[in-house]
Amino acid sequence: MRKPIIAGNWKMNNTIAETKALVADLIPLVKDAACDVVICTPYTDLAAAVEATAGTNIKVGAENVHWAEKGAFTGEISAKMLVELGVEYVIIGHSERRQYFGETDETVNARMKAALAAGLKPIVCVGELLEERESGKTEEVVTRQTVGAFKDIDKSELENIVIAYEPVWAIGTGKTATAQDANDTIKVIRDTMAKLYCEKCAQEKVRIQYGGSMNPKNVAELMAMPEIDGGLIGGASLKAEDFSKVVNY
Ligand code: 13P
Repeated sequence: MRKPIIAGNWKMNNTIAETKALVADLIPLVKDAACDVVICTPYTDLAAAVEATAGTNIKVGAENVHWAEKGAFTGEISAKMLVELGVEYVIIGHSERRQYFGETDETVNARMKAALAAGLKPIVCVGELLEERESGKTEEVVTRQTVGAFKDIDKSELENIVIAYEPVWAIGTGKTATAQDANDTIKVIRDTMAKLYCEKCAQEKVRIQYGGSMNPKNVAELMAMPEIDGGLIGGASLKAEDFSKVVNY
């Protein structure tokens, strides 16, 4: 019912030359994928990634976008600039942006609106910190982040948005949430979306990925869970063979 979507988040890795090489390796390995395939690259690699993936089943995303249409925001990139490059997706509210760059639920929501207005598809990230999990606040945190991200966003946009549940303690640590824990928290997010919109919309239109040390070894177990519609992959997306094994889980 919901088509799975596997996306790579390259983070601050890969030059243009490395982008061309990685995409060239990836194309034949993922060409028969049953899921949607996306690579999210640094701004400087986007043009090369769009060009190298033209005519293939690989879509390209950015890792952030500013909320303003244009103006005096030195160093920032607008949604229109990304669309002009041929970019289709954009990660919004990644925990690294929340932790290191002052991202809040309000700025996540503003970026979502700007991205959607320009025709980009947001991959919006939510997830709890280790201390939040340990103090039993996981549900409260992901619910607050989800409600905040979707404030004033119309139901008609739901099929253009992907949610990524990324428990912060599982990112880059080699620790994965158990498939059951990931599924349970994603169910909380889907129930929140059902309350915000409607049960049918949450079931049919809202795709929710898991992210956090997802790799060729654990992908099958995670993807077998009924609530998990895909993955947002960091480290394992930087090697063509590993990423293709995740995509072809
Ligand atoms: P890792 O797969 O390296 O844990 O990163 C996950 C992530 O942050 C994807 O956005």
